[in-house]
Amino acid sequence: MKAIVLGTGIDRLGFSGFERKSISGPFGEAECFIRDNLALIPRHGKEHKVAPHLINYRANIDVMRSLGVDEAIALYAVGSITDRLLPGECGIVSDFIDMSHSRCNSFHDGTILPLRHEEMDAPFSSDLVNRVLSLDPSLRRDLVYVTTQGPRLETKAEITAYERLGADVVGMTLATEASLIRELGIRSCALCYSINMAAGKSQEGMSFIGDEETERISSHLLHLAMEALAYVC
Ligand code: HPA
Repeated sequence: MKAIVLGTGIDRLGFSGFERKSISGPFGEAECFIRDNLALIPRHGKEHKVAPHLINYRANIDVMRSLGVDEAIALYAVGSITDRLLPGECGIVSDFIDMSHSRCNSFHDGTILPLRHEEMDAPFSSDLVNRVLSLDPSLRRDLVYVTTQGPRLETKAEITAYERLGADVVGMTLATEASLIRELGIRSCALCYSINMAAGKSQEGMSFIGDEETERISSHLLHLAMEALAYVC
């Protein structure tokens, strides 16, 4: 079984033939959409209503364990800090910095499951990354994603600090998800697309790209992810 985690509402993407399922486990309940051997997991819930800091990440990612997922691709809309990924461009994340807090970011925190300190020196699968790159060599590579707490956007000073720390792109969700997926031993890859310049990085303000371009790019990445997971829609 394969999985794709995405932020955009499934309904807006217009996929027919996927069966909506609610899956309950020790970490709570989560929604997913299943067709054949592919599960789509909308991280913000079915109506894109759950704020990043309030998402039940463990329930969402535990869906993969329940379904026996062995490979997953997660898609992220991000803001651009450096010119290694500009608005309207797509890329692959190779590492992350976690500035989020107060989130349940581990299955193995000693409460429900025993304490374990997961290695995070190679969070993503190089096999899966290479498969995605062979399908779309234009993707920007080796991006570093800083995960902020949200839901507010960052200040200029925060973005300057994150750039000095080595971040290329900013978003509010990846670190938490990637850590949990890694704990489950699932091979994964993180694809991102930039929808704006981060705070203080453009003279024109944050300059978000339009809805149509956002949908076009997110849909391209979704189809790329499906192809990489050998799913034929
Ligand atoms: N900051 C945080 N998260 C984001 C941004 C941003 O500028 N753009 C898209 N997700």
